[in-house]
Amino acid sequence: MSLSSGHLLGIANLDAEEIVRILDTAETFAEISTREIKKVPTLRGRTVVNFFVEPSTRTRSSFELAEKRLSADSLNFSASSSSFSKGESLLDTARTLEAMAPDFIVMRHSQPGAPHFLARHGQASIINAGDGPHEHPTQALLDAYTIRQHKGKIDGLRVAIVGDVRHSRVALSNIHLLTKLGATVVACSPPTMLPRGLETLGCEVTHRPDEALEGADVVMGLRVQLERMTSGFFPSLREYARLYGINRERLRRAKSDAIVMHPGPMNRGVEIAGDVADGERSVILEQVTNGVAVRMAVLYLLAGERDKAA
Ligand code: CP
Repeated sequence: MSLSSGHLLGIANLDAEEIVRILDTAETFAEISTREIKKVPTLRGRTVVNFFVEPSTRTRSSFELAEKRLSADSLNFSASSSSFSKGESLLDTARTLEAMAPDFIVMRHSQPGAPHFLARHGQASIINAGDGPHEHPTQALLDAYTIRQHKGKIDGLRVAIVGDVRHSRVALSNIHLLTKLGATVVACSPPTMLPRGLETLGCEVTHRPDEALEGADVVMGLRVQLERMTSGFFPSLREYARLYGINRERLRRAKSDAIVMHPGPMNRGVEIAGDVADGERSVILEQVTNGVAVRMAVLYLLAGERDKAA
């Protein structure tokens, strides 16, 4: 489903041209966040519902800031403080929200496909803010924005994604996006945490982090998602950190100007050493900063698609 659908449900169905259009638009919006008055009237009169059924710090707060900086009216709706917690179904919840005529619903949900379901049952533009282990399109877009900011391009780069690939929507969206833009992506996990057939998406796979990091321009760590694990995927966190953690020693294999990324939240000392996360190569907080401009761009472009369809 491309942007012309009026929704952003994933990266899988965007083409390279649409991705570049979002990144270029985000560049024009980034300056607004550096002004003393961080606000433009672009989305005045539009309403955005932030519907988060799973916890979030970065995605939720940066969507909210993006909406405020574009002068949209925001409504924050969390599962724990709503009738969702009394057992109201997703469809009834969606219908209730739709009855208040929002222009956008930004949705995070534990079930893959939940935002797609909402898109089929209403008039609002749906933005997927993470659906279970499926996709997290705005995270991949802000990651690509950050890479482009540092490297000037994405085509031809080698990107090592190391960690819990199996449970990671960030990994899947990044594999789609970075391969579409011409990067070589190497996904690395213990055998128990690497989904079978991942290479059919156009990436390389390995169980050896030293091999993944060799000559990398970008090293992206992924959180070990203990909350999604129903069985033992590795013997202990200490063992995981020893074999798969991104530490200074391991980072020597990457290019000397390689950047280190992590979508957050981090398990410091597990998938990434604290001194690497805070080190001179880390761009982790820049990723957070860039999330606001990228989400402003997504809202702006989807509003344009809504206007065209009206
Ligand atoms: N990267 C990310 O999605 O972080 P949050 O869960 O804090 O939104």
